[in-house]
Amino acid sequence: MNKRFVAVAVLLAGFTGVVALTGCNDVSTDLKAPTYATGIDKNELSSKAFMQKFPSQYASYMKNNESEVMTEYKGSIAYHKNDNVNSLPNGFKNAQPYLKNLWMGYPFMYEYNEPRGHTHAVEDFVNIDRLDAFSADGKGHMPATCWNCKTPRMMQWIAKYGDDFWSKDVNEFRSKEMVTQEEAISCSTCHDPATMELRPYSEPLQDWLKRSGQDWTKLSRNEKRTLVCAQCHVEYYFTEKGNGPNKRPVFPWDLGKNPDAFYEYYKTHGKKDASGKEGPFADWVHAVSKVPMIKMQHPDYETFQDGPHGAAGVSCADCHMQYMREDGKKVSSHWMTSPLKDKEMRACRQCHADKTAEYLRSRVHYIQEKTFSKLLEAERHSVKAHEAIRLANAYTGERAQNYDTLMQEAREMVRKGQLYWDYVSAENSIGFHNPTKQLNALMTSYESSQKAIDLAQQATMFGISPMLAGNIEKLVPPILEMSRELQQDEAFLMRHPWTKMLPVMPKHERVWKGQDRLDKMANAAPKM
Ligand code: HEC
Ligand code: HEC
Ligand code: HEC
Ligand code: HEC
Repeated sequence: MNKRFVAVAVLLAGFTGVVALTGCNDVSTDLKAPTYATGIDKNELSSKAFMQKFPSQYASYMKNNESEVMTEYKGSIAYHKNDNVNSLPNGFKNAQPYLKNLWMGYPFMYEYNEPRGHTHAVEDFVNIDRLDAFSADGKGHMPATCWNCKTPRMMQWIAKYGDDFWSKDVNEFRSKEMVTQEEAISCSTCHDPATMELRPYSEPLQDWLKRSGQDWTKLSRNEKRTLVCAQCHVEYYFTEKGNGPNKRPVFPWDLGKNPDAFYEYYKTHGKKDASGKEGPFADWVHAVSKVPMIKMQHPDYETFQDGPHGAAGVSCADCHMQYMREDGKKVSSHWMTSPLKDKEMRACRQCHADKTAEYLRSRVHYIQEKTFSKLLEAERHSVKAHEAIRLANAYTGERAQNYDTLMQEAREMVRKGQLYWDYVSAENSIGFHNPTKQLNALMTSYESSQKAIDLAQQATMFGISPMLAGNIEKLVPPILEMSRELQQDEAFLMRHPWTKMLPVMPKHERVWKGQDRLDKMANAAPKM
């Protein structure tokens, strides 16, 4: 080999090394984001208005419409998350059969689906059975707060109604005149339309920044590339009247972002008693065990922030909005979806340039498989804990002297067990965003449920023990079907020992289909 060639080769090798590193730096540490003078109205809500000025971001955003590709555990088909019986598109092999059991008495028991792309947000929301489409008065029996994470039209509603907005009925805003599908999560959800700077429109995130003394304009670029997602991909709850504006959404982060912190936080923030003292917060009371419960909602950000990537300063956008090269320019893919859908795993290899796609994919699957199997075990154990409480509540044999004290502690352990399980269940990466924390949470869930089972047995002097022995799938079969319509059918409810305990709903025709009101009141719907 001649000398000159070697020199070039070394130089090239060095150069490639530099390129690989710069590639990584590009992903995380450029200080300034590009800004523009768009000439687009600052109140623009529809993505289409941005198409001409930003064709590649717009085109990639429209890929969020894709709704046919599944990955091993996730992906974009909106299948029922409890259904492992039917094949896709309704059911999926890695489903969680006990979801309806665990949410008995709460609207989540009617329908809960795998999420898909942002462009579907309004459509999927107005079609979900959690909103009441059958009530005689046309109300949805949910607070308007739910709209917060579906459309940037929120900004106008808050400007118009202030804090009176949240506790209005969700269906007051359900019509096509109020909000169009084009106004589902759109450019103005994350960008100031005039400059394209990232901004938080979400009220609960703004509240949190204020409460924790942070100024958005002073945050680093990378923090913003994560926090725009944390407007919605987080745990939240709605304030009780008397603790603040009724039904205003709040991020419960004051004690920390882990399940321990949330469990502590929700020991207060509930309804006030006669003396003005705050009781524990509850989203609902479980219809079978009568335990006041907490529902976790997709704590993706909280899970991620102290995981291997979050702690290292990687942002959500690094993996879910990978850079594309277009005419020599770097643009962010706005197809915010699973990075595993890409055969080449390009999002990951922006940083892990030395690893193959197969290797990286196998690491994700390794974490997910371990997490998912423990998730299902914790889930079954929560079901058993509710069943133990149900049996002990109804037990007529000899009770322990301290029955009430034991049962109080047992109920607390059911609530705790399910909260820790749901932190992992409702989170969207099946462990990947933070493997250690998620397995730790599942262990605590399992332990707490076991404590509940032990205590309920002690309270009944082990009288219920024979009824708890054996396979939980036999004792309490998964409830695979349940809907608002089925709850009007008494014969259906009588078929399972748990659905039996639900109130029968009065028979009523469907009043809403998506955004259309079907009954004679349709023309009397309020107009903005
Ligand atoms: C290091 C890369 C990485 C980072 C950083 C990251 N994620 Fe993920 N995310 C993943 C992987 C991998 C999955 C699993 C996808 C699958 O199983 O198909 C995932 C799954 C998801 C899903 C579910 C996708 C689906 O198909 O339903 C959501 C939602 C999500 N992440 C949101 C976020 C948010 C919000 C953040 C920041 C707070 C974030 N992610 C940070 C890699 C990442
Ligand atoms: C305004 C609220 C909101 C914001 C902000 C938001 N999301 Fe989402 N995201 C949602 C909702 C709602 C869905 C589910 C939509 C559906 O299923 O109809 C979703 C779905 C997703 C999915 C699943 C897509 C699929 O194909 O399965 C991913 C991944 C995701 N979001 C990532 C992100 C990332 C990354 C960010 C920040 C860059 C972000 N989201 C910001 C509300 C939001
Ligand atoms: C869920 C949040 C979210 C939505 C919705 C969103 N963007 Fe972005 N956008 C981002 C993030 C995060 C970045 C990266 C900013 C950075 O790197 O500082 C970005 C970057 C950009 C940039 C800067 C150049 C680039 O590609 O990095 C442009 C232009 C842009 N987006 C246009 C749009 C348009 C047009 C739409 C609507 C079709 C849109 N965005 C919707 C979050 C979003
Ligand atoms: C912006 C850069 C960046 C991107 C993009 C990125 N990673 Fe990482 N990854 C890191 C850093 C930094 C660490 C932590 C290394 C350390 O602490 O030594 C890490 C650690 C890991 C680890 C070891 C820790 C663990 O969780 O077991 C795995 C596996 C991993 N990444 C996989 C992925 C996958 C899969 C993707 C794409 C979905 C991805 N990474 C995307 C930077 C990145």
